[in-house]
Amino acid sequence: MLLELTHVSKSYGAVEVLRDVNLQLTAGERMAIIGPSGSGKSTLLNLMGALDVPTRGTMNLDGRDLSHLTENELAGIRNRQIGFIFQLHHLLPQCTVLENVLIPTLTGHTTDADYARAERLLERVGLKHRLTHRPGELSGGECQRVAVVRALINQPKLLLADEPTGSLDHASATNLGQLLTELNKEEGVALVLVTHSLELARQMPRVLELRDGELH
Ligand SMILES: Nc1ncnc2c1ncn2[C@@H]1O[C@H](COP(=O)(O)OP(=O)(O)OP(=O)(O)O)[C@@H](O)[C@H]1O
Ligand SMILES: [Mg+2]
Repeated sequence: MLLELTHVSKSYGAVEVLRDVNLQLTAGERMAIIGPSGSGKSTLLNLMGALDVPTRGTMNLDGRDLSHLTENELAGIRNRQIGFIFQLHHLLPQCTVLENVLIPTLTGHTTDADYARAERLLERVGLKHRLTHRPGELSGGECQRVAVVRALINQPKLLLADEPTGSLDHASATNLGQLLTELNKEEGVALVLVTHSLELARQMPRVLELRDGELH
């Protein structure tokens, strides 16, 4: 099991956002999480990504109980095991495409293999001729593809995407959805996709719905 949430609840003050969530994700699996605005999708994804801690319950990632780790250990796990994609790409405007993609490798020592992987993946997502461009020179869909490569650069086991197509037009959104599905298979990375788009969710073999803090 890659990721296992057991009786996970999350409250902000008196407000219980997630209630007794149980979820298992196997290595390389692909799933979507849907639900109305405010139902706790981002909260759940942030827990899965070790960006936040549950109020109750346990989270196990790749055999490690996350609740017993220090903040440094969690940061290491986020950097090496997990890739994040958000609605907005959050690329650094002053850096080139290639530099942006290599940022997650900077915590160690960026190797020739990192460069080779960056170039191979950028070519894979159709950005071979954009390596030295800056984000301001790219379309929204292209920026999001750069963000996908950045999320994959350290060969994570888990890719978490929170509304990654939310700021794209329909054609770009469809393309990005297909690309994520293909990369899930090619790279063997598990994919959890939060989306408002039923069309996108239907591309996933497993769809869970959050309603009133409970997962169905
Ligand atoms: N840091 C926080 N402090 C207090 N309340 C929070 C915090 N983060 C989220 N909430 C509340 O938790 C609930 C769920 O928020 P969350 O962002 O997970 O929803 P969502 O399903 O991702 O919504 P959307 O589809 O609009 O992105 C909301 O009512 C929100 O106000
Ligand atoms: Mg959200």
